Amino acid sequence: MNLNALTQRPAYDGIARLLHWLVALLIAAQFVLGWTMPDVHRDTVPDGLIAWHLGVGAAIVAAVACRILWRITHQPQPAELTPTLSFISRATHTLLYVTLVAVPLAGWANASSRGWAVKLFGMVRYPDLTQNGSQTGHALGDVHGWLAWALLALIVLHIGGALFHRIVLKDDVLQRMLP
Ligand code: HEM
Ligand code: HEM
Repeated sequence: MNLNALTQRPAYDGIARLLHWLVALLIAAQFVLGWTMPDVHRDTVPDGLIAWHLGVGAAIVAAVACRILWRITHQPQPAELTPTLSFISRATHTLLYVTLVAVPLAGWANASSRGWAVKLFGMVRYPDLTQNGSQTGHALGDVHGWLAWALLALIVLHIGGALFHRIVLKDDVLQRMLP
């Protein structure tokens, strides 16, 4: 039985669902770009797929910021879960948010250290996070790559969890996030 239907309040409102799927789409595209773009070296020029990675990255920064602001100001109806499942789901969601912030910030800091501009829709230039040539910014390039793998592992766990609810538990958790 759909408890949320009974209480007349959607678990996640339309904006929360829209932002969830927009970020999911952008992240999927960003992994494809990150894996297919040319290796980045000292003298690499940020054009082609690298320019796309920076542009989609700027959109991710904006969309994740909107998502977190919306989440803080619009609390969803909690799902009816056992204490163990509730703990696992909250921990996964928290870690997802942490990596959704940390991965883009590390990539952005690395871009700044290379003197690359990060622009939203090619127009709105974001401030530089590190100085051109910064060692910290350089090191954060590696951190960006490692954290992207951690984000991917969390996404796999998250999708596995959603399918587990749908196929094994047969509850309405997946429906909570569907349009
Ligand atoms: C890049 C991919 C994805 C990311 C980063 C992501 C991230 C998140 C986050 C952070 C939440 C917590 C929402 C909150 O309470 O604030 C969430 C919820 C949810 N996501 Fe995703 N998600 C992704 C893809 C997917 C996919 C592919 C599915 C379906 C197969 C899915 C299904 C759900 C569901 C059902 C919820 C609600 C869980 C609940 O009711 O507690 N997500 N997602
Ligand atoms: C969640 C979002 C993101 C994901 C999943 C992601 C993923 C990746 C991946 C897989 C790589 C290749 C790593 C390697 O080959 O070791 C990469 C490299 C890179 N990304 Fe991202 N990225 C994201 C966001 C961003 C953002 C927001 C920016 C900047 C605005 C950015 C800038 C870069 C740069 C400059 C590199 C080259 C780093 C280097 O090799 O030193 N990324 N990214």
